[in-house]
Amino acid sequence: MVEELILEHTRDVADFPEPGVQFKDLTPLFAAPEAFRSVVDDIGSRYRAAVDVVVGIEARGFILAAPVAMAMDLPFVPVRKAGKLPGPTLRQEYSLEYGTATIEVHSDSLAAGQRVLLLDDVLATGGTAAAAASLIERTGARVAAIEMLMELGFLGGRAKLAGYDVNAIVSV
Ligand code: PRP
Repeated sequence: MVEELILEHTRDVADFPEPGVQFKDLTPLFAAPEAFRSVVDDIGSRYRAAVDVVVGIEARGFILAAPVAMAMDLPFVPVRKAGKLPGPTLRQEYSLEYGTATIEVHSDSLAAGQRVLLLDDVLATGGTAAAAASLIERTGARVAAIEMLMELGFLGGRAKLAGYDVNAIVSV
């Protein structure tokens, strides 16, 4: 099962990025081709025929979303941190614990009515995914599903994604 594969290939790192935080490091999964391929194929098979485009969130979401898009034979579209995309963009600001952050998408990268699969590695407070979903909707496309490898359930991020079809393969 892909849930076990992800758990087996996750490293807990204490006190990163700051004291008291236990970081879920998924680089061992990305470094294990067979396990990573199984996860990519699992996601692709569950959404086949249900989506038209795959959107990944910078940076770790790119590692997952690009191979999923390729496996599904669908376009990959990046949502990036502010100032990185060269063309005309839509911008969305969102709150962090201290301060705000801004993400962007190329305004011509999605079309009205397209069904989007939004992918990221981890759902924590939900702010990033909620902002990305807003960006997608502002293009006229529709968020068909939001999929994460892992959800940190104790942070309650799902509350910010009410109304969306949200799935995490692993919940901790
Ligand atoms: C992490 C993770 C998600 C986001 C989740 O990315 O990859 O994108 O945080 O957090 P949230 O649910 O509280 O919004 P990060 O911002 O650390 O950037 P990175 O992928 O560039 O490391």
